[in-house]
Amino acid sequence: MKKILITGGAGFIGSHVVRLFVNKYPDDTIVNLDKLTYAGNLQNLTDIENKPNYTFVKGDILDKDLIKSLFEKYNFDGVIHLAAESHVDRSITNPLEFAETNILGTMVLINAAKNHWKNNFAQKLFYHISTDEVYGSLGEEGIFTETTPYSPHSPYSASKAGSDHFVRAYHDTYGLPIVISNCSNNYGANQFPEKLIPLSINNIKNQKNIPIYGKGENIRDWLFVEDHAEAIDTIFHKGKNGETYNIGGNNEWKNIDLIRLLCQIMDKKLGREKGTSEKLITFVKDRAGHDLRYAIDSSKLQKELGWKPSLQFEEGLEKTVEWYLASEAWLENVVSGEYQKYYQKQYS
Ligand code: NAD
Ligand code: DAU
Repeated sequence: MKKILITGGAGFIGSHVVRLFVNKYPDDTIVNLDKLTYAGNLQNLTDIENKPNYTFVKGDILDKDLIKSLFEKYNFDGVIHLAAESHVDRSITNPLEFAETNILGTMVLINAAKNHWKNNFAQKLFYHISTDEVYGSLGEEGIFTETTPYSPHSPYSASKAGSDHFVRAYHDTYGLPIVISNCSNNYGANQFPEKLIPLSINNIKNQKNIPIYGKGENIRDWLFVEDHAEAIDTIFHKGKNGETYNIGGNNEWKNIDLIRLLCQIMDKKLGREKGTSEKLITFVKDRAGHDLRYAIDSSKLQKELGWKPSLQFEEGLEKTVEWYLASEAWLENVVSGEYQKYYQKQYS
């Protein structure tokens, strides 16, 4: 009968985590706190919104009074913190917002947890969700482990690294029980179409150019979002206090190869002639400070806590394409208004 605060639960990964916890733990109370920025969308959770063990609170993690009052009202045993500004390109144009939300916002939460739990930390846990980007960039060889030194390059990854450091500092200084996980690139349903895969699906659907940064040679390690949610469940319940766990799919793809595969899947699903969508591939100006390669070693999580990814990439990508093609209303809603301005500015 735990009371759990999940932040960022109306965003991409957070909504999958909230759904999993609400359905799997009917005796637990799940409070989802989200500011509903452009990336947050309550349509992501319509299937569980009326469940008796679920409450949504619209609010900002930077709002100290609100956070304190939520701790007082619900007396949380655990926090799973996902709320963040998450898009690297936006961090390049708007770095201060990333420092505020990702660093200061995380500090407001850990501080409230420490104060509310009043140093009586038995059975309490602050779980901070981080990214593999804090480790920097790999060359052709190597893999990120939990002991790889931090070397973030973008304002986004620097802000996530900063928040990780504060969470560890609260553990070392005050004894706050924490775990941190660093995950690789996620894909799946409900991802905002500013990120490579949903942006490309939307453009292919509408026969618009697919913008590939540089030569498309950058490599990412892709994980199906529901596998990430399962890993978060495993770590929240079985992770050791103070530990870090890497999460990844052991699934590296060059951007250009991934997009070619996506084009083939989309041609089939849309009944277009083979090769039609590939013609939309357009190489555009590279991202500033673009990290070459990420690859995650998740053997600690697999060996110590027994998690493993469930899906092959081709299967997951097909499922993802099917979801976007079947979710026209969702997609139309998020690509109207603000998105058009963002797209214009980013890709013109
Ligand atoms: P997202 O952008 O889809 O969602 C972020 C959510 O946080 C949104 O619902 C937004 O409204 C909310 N939010 C933003 N600022 C807030 C604030 N001040 N107060 C309350 N809520 C706020 O992000 P995502 O891709 O789902 O990522 C979730 C977390 O996982 C982030 O911490 C991110 O760094 C991390 N992560 C993401 C990936 C990935 O591939 N997407 C991989 C590893 C780690
Ligand atoms: O590695 C985990 C990280 O993965 C998360 O922490 C971030 O929140 C998440 O956004 C993601 O970051 P990336 O920058 O890797 O994801 P994105 O989808 O933006 O880009 C994936 C790759 O595709 C990257 O090499 C940049 C490239 N790209 C991206 C866009 C949006 C393009 O070539 N064209 C594009 O239009």
